[in-house]
Amino acid sequence: MQYKQSEFLIETIVPKDELIVSRTDLKGNITYANDTFTQISGYEVDELIGKPHNCVRHPDMPKKVFEELWSSLEKNQSWSGVIKNLRKDKGFYWVHAQINVVKKDGKIVEYKSIRTPISFKDKLKYQKLYDNIKKENNEKTRVVSYNLKNYTIFSHLYSKITYEKVDFF
Ligand SMILES: Cc1cc2nc3c(=O)[nH]c(=O)nc-3n(C[C@H](O)[C@H](O)[C@H](O)COP(=O)(O)O)c2cc1C
Repeated sequence: MQYKQSEFLIETIVPKDELIVSRTDLKGNITYANDTFTQISGYEVDELIGKPHNCVRHPDMPKKVFEELWSSLEKNQSWSGVIKNLRKDKGFYWVHAQINVVKKDGKIVEYKSIRTPISFKDKLKYQKLYDNIKKENNEKTRVVSYNLKNYTIFSHLYSKITYEKVDFF
């Protein structure tokens, strides 16, 4: 993927009292998205239903994380972890995701994900961790550092916004 400097710069902060919920079919196509999901991701609900869940995949996420996610689900096990997601406007938001299987009459029919915010400290930790995992696997990485000096907060619908300083190499 070609990175443009104007993209990936604005963070949407997931409010503490909100849950981002989605459900997918067994192939990962979205079957349900709650209002918080639409507001945080910037998509209308109609734009999400029927789409593969990778529509919110951020290029900073290592492939390995999703391989582990799907490997757990294929073994009928739940998965939880930290994900950096891409908004429709190319901004981003960090979440902790808990993904569970949904059973009907004892059979797995869907997957369900419930996401909550993570701390600023964890965002720094996971950005570094995921950069390292990508480097180890020869995936393209960006260097992202949060500029605390110029930390700016706007009121923006549901969210507050910070800016990332992004160095490319
Ligand atoms: C219930 C459920 C929720 C998911 N939530 C996300 C998500 O929030 N962000 C994301 O990038 N991938 C999510 N995924 C994983 C995607 O299906 C996909 O594997 C991932 O975006 C990587 O894309 P790729 O498989 O095309 O490489 C979810 C999968 C399931 C089953």
